[in-house]
Amino acid sequence: MSNLMRLKVFAATLICALVLAGCSTATGETNDSKEDEQNEQNDVQPIAVQGAMDVEISALLDEMKDYKEEQHGNYTFYTGKIADTPVVVSRTEVGMVHAAASTTVLIEKYNPKAIINQGTAGGHDPDLHVFDTVIGTEVMNIGNMRTEHLDDEQGMKPDKWLFMSTGMREDGEEVEYESFESDPELVKIALSVADQYKYGEVVEGKVGSADFWNREIDRIQWFHENAGTSVEEMEAASVAQVAKGFNVPYLSVRTVSNSEVSEDNIEDLETAGQYGAEYAVDIVKAMSK
Ligand code: 5AD
Repeated sequence: MSNLMRLKVFAATLICALVLAGCSTATGETNDSKEDEQNEQNDVQPIAVQGAMDVEISALLDEMKDYKEEQHGNYTFYTGKIADTPVVVSRTEVGMVHAAASTTVLIEKYNPKAIINQGTAGGHDPDLHVFDTVIGTEVMNIGNMRTEHLDDEQGMKPDKWLFMSTGMREDGEEVEYESFESDPELVKIALSVADQYKYGEVVEGKVGSADFWNREIDRIQWFHENAGTSVEEMEAASVAQVAKGFNVPYLSVRTVSNSEVSEDNIEDLETAGQYGAEYAVDIVKAMSK
């Protein structure tokens, strides 16, 4: 090989080596920074607060002041901070299916450290008044029912309908739940700021959920007596079920907006939604301490 040839081979090898080194460094850096970004995102787990309707989340958005709005399918999420803590406010839309779908998206996209499902509800307990707030220590899907066989022409007997349990698969084993419980630590925190709630009483109770709005007093009393429900609404049990499925701590908070059994004669979702969301702000602040 001539000296010139040797020089050319050397130069070509050098260029190749430099290009490869450059490539691998660049690739390495990109991967590392992507991983760092991912870890950072995973480290800062937000508190999630859900409401089905605008009137149930607007007080939270007002408190955040600056927030980013994100849309995933049908569902809207607002990311920001309350008391320097990352928060994602989620508008679930109304009803059990929307609540389940948006909770799944919430968990997958935002990895929240806790989910507070809050909003309005109808009273089942005659001692509860409009604007009282229930900390739902237990939530139950009161639409999950079956009937015994009745023959043709034997009619419908709603007071004979039976509750069904919900099956969950935990470590491969099937476990049946009659209801789901709110996280006891979150219940404690919610109760610790109850004295800041000025619009009515704060009580612990059982929340019943279904795609149903009951106004028949006998039916309401039947649920109160047979399921032990304090209030009814349309999302909590569905959110609790999904949260349980992903092992995310869950809390139910509901402000009474209407009641057929308390003689209040008020139906005011807007005001109850505002009051409940203000309470949720206090809970988030207490969680941030
Ligand atoms: N029955 C069912 N849902 C109710 N809500 C408020 N009061 C009631 C009630 N009596 C809530 C539901 C739903 C929206 C229509 O209002 O959770 O999101």
